Formats: sequence, structure tokens, C-alpha cells
Amino acid sequence: MHTALQAFLTGARAAITASDDAADRVTRIAPLMRRLLQSDRAFLTADHFRSAPDHYQRNAIHIAPEGDLSLFALVWLPGQWTPVHDHGSWGVVGVVQGLLEERSYMAADGDITADTGIRLRRGGVILLNPGAVTSFVPNPDHIHMTGVAEPGETCVSLHLYGRNMNSFHIYDVAAGTRRLISVPHQESR
Ligand SMILES: [Fe+2]
Repeated sequence: MHTALQAFLTGARAAITASDDAADRVTRIAPLMRRLLQSDRAFLTADHFRSAPDHYQRNAIHIAPEGDLSLFALVWLPGQWTPVHDHGSWGVVGVVQGLLEERSYMAADGDITADTGIRLRRGGVILLNPGAVTSFVPNPDHIHMTGVAEPGETCVSLHLYGRNMNSFHIYDVAAGTRRLISVPHQESR
């Protein structure tokens, strides 16, 4: 494995070992993500830059066999967005190229305990340039949608999650519902 990627994953593993608290973990890992972005990025191969015409593309970089870490390169063509979703996990995101936009949502009634009757309020937006790092913790679930505005340029971002990110909730804001979807690796979402 490439040296910079190995150092990042070793550091992330150390952060998990050091604390059970998600906020502690992302605080430790965020500067490691920045350092990874500042590396020569030789760990990124052509496979990691694959895109898809009709949805943003998830390209797995590393899935820990322990099931407690997963790292993806996400490739966003202009106009491609996630649905409104949460992760049920902490995460650290870093931008390789392009401009990534995140639009936040907040649960109006506090912790979400059912899949219906969910009232979400829109929050602010953040625009992330290359080299920028952001993070989230599930206290309560962090709900957002992410993508690239049109017109724009292709964006590539790195996403480290505190579990094998093979499923997550997507929300229908107008209907006030959510459902759990499975997402195979190397495919959309
Ligand atoms: Fe997300």
C-alpha cells in the first residue's frame, strides 16, 4: 500500500483505539485527512477517478476487514447530488479537486426514533475547495445532501467512515419519511 495512505489508515486506527467518542475521533483524523490531501496522491489510481453519467460514483479505496473503517473516492459530475441522507456513523471528508457543496438538514423534533413523522428543517450550506476537510458525528444523526452545482467542474472527494458504509438512511423531506437502503461498493451513493 502507498506510504501516505498507509500512514493515514494507521492514524485513523489509532484514533479509534484512543477514544470511543466520535467527536474525539474526527478531531484526531481531520488533520490526517488534510495531510493525505497534501501528499503526492499517488495512492489514487485511475479506478478511483471513475465517474458515471447518471449518478455520482463511489469508488472504494479501503474497506477494513474489521468493519469499522471504510474509505472511498467519490466522483461528482456537475449536477450530481446525493439524496438527503444520514450515515449512522462519524465521517471525515476531504476534497481532492473541484468544489463540493454540502446542504445541511436538522431534525426539528430532536433525535429521530421512527421512520415516519420526521420533520426536517433546512440548514446552511458549505462550499469546500480542494484541500478542505469537513467531518460529522452522529450526535444526533447528521443529515445532509452533498453534490456539485451545475455548471461546475468534476469534483473528487475522499470519504472516511467509521463503519463499512454499505447502507444508510435516505429521507423524503416532504413526506417526512426515511428508509434504509443498501449500497454495494463501486456503485452509486
Ligand atoms: Fe453524506
